[in-house]
Amino acid sequence: MPTLAESWPGVAQAWGCFESVSPGPDGLLVAGWMQLLGQDFSSFRLMLNGKSAAASEVYLRPDVAEVYPRVTGADRSGFHFMVPIAGTDPMTSGRVDVLGCVGDRPVARMSTRFRADLDRLMPTPPTELMVRVASVGDPSIFKAGGLKSFTDFYDAICRRRDFRSTRRLLDWGCGCGRVTAHFLLEPERPEVFGCDIDGAAIAWCQENLPAGIFSRINPMPPTPFPDGTFDVVIGYSVFTHLERETQRAWLNEIHRVLVPGGLLLATTQGQFAAFLEPPQVLDQLERFGILDQDFDSMLAGVVSDGYYRVVFQTSDYTLQEWSKIFDILEYTERGIGNYQDLIVMSSRG
Ligand SMILES: C[S@@+](CC[C@H](N)C(=O)[O-])C[C@H]1O[C@@H](n2cnc3c(N)ncnc32)[C@H](O)[C@@H]1O
Repeated sequence: MPTLAESWPGVAQAWGCFESVSPGPDGLLVAGWMQLLGQDFSSFRLMLNGKSAAASEVYLRPDVAEVYPRVTGADRSGFHFMVPIAGTDPMTSGRVDVLGCVGDRPVARMSTRFRADLDRLMPTPPTELMVRVASVGDPSIFKAGGLKSFTDFYDAICRRRDFRSTRRLLDWGCGCGRVTAHFLLEPERPEVFGCDIDGAAIAWCQENLPAGIFSRINPMPPTPFPDGTFDVVIGYSVFTHLERETQRAWLNEIHRVLVPGGLLLATTQGQFAAFLEPPQVLDQLERFGILDQDFDSMLAGVVSDGYYRVVFQTSDYTLQEWSKIFDILEYTERGIGNYQDLIVMSSRG
């Protein structure tokens, strides 16, 4: 795998879903759907480990259109590739990039890694813990989704630094290790830490992911980590649950535990996530910049009522508020998991 990311000039991050990336006896099956708002694809292309491997026509997906009625063109979003096995190579792991094309020109992409040994290598958390962080109880979807998000984080880190130069990485709000587990499977990896306010999730990680260092932390800073402990901190779908003052407190705390020039990669629910909600959500969001008053009951009994929320925030709000604490290096709509926005930041010296 690359330690420095490829760049895709002019090719936008798409929205969609890999429903299958399955190496099997006949070859690699890659299927799913993909959309770029306002764009009609004429075909899809599959890159396997960086090389062009197959083409697919655009398949009709009325089921996708039914779930997202406000997205024009969602019914023309399906792709389906079967890459036959070359020689005796069993193709057990690798990387796929699906490109949405207009004519011959790629305009959008979706990427993930795949591995045939995912079930064997990654222990399955109890259903209750998977549902709590990902709203899914199916282990294959949970693990493949974690691998896809890991790919996005890994690529984003590699756009900024050689991954191998990272000494310590923290997955802040790691839950039951959906993404952390994939960092732990990397052959050349930093010391990997995970922390969360959910004691049951952390106990499961401590028991089942022994290569990582996991700790339960309090809902408000400080954490026990000394100043400048980490080179990289990721926070996947954590700020998406914290109201604005709590976000500020945690941005300051993460800044404290990063080395100067360290990276924070964090996600938000931005305008795109709001667009998929009933129309009034986006209207309100554009008026106020942040919507952080709705409570989320998913952590009932884990944290005090009112702490855990459903938060949307515009890119303008995020850039304005977060740049008071961090230097913003990159803002990518739908940059993680094809849905949440990704903000890559650097701590100040
Ligand atoms: C939607 S889940 C995402 C979990 C994990 N990042 C993943 O992608 O699977 C949000 C997680 O953030 C944790 N969390 C909420 N507030 C937190 C805080 N202040 N510090 C650390 N973790 C927090 C929750 O307990 C939960 O595990």
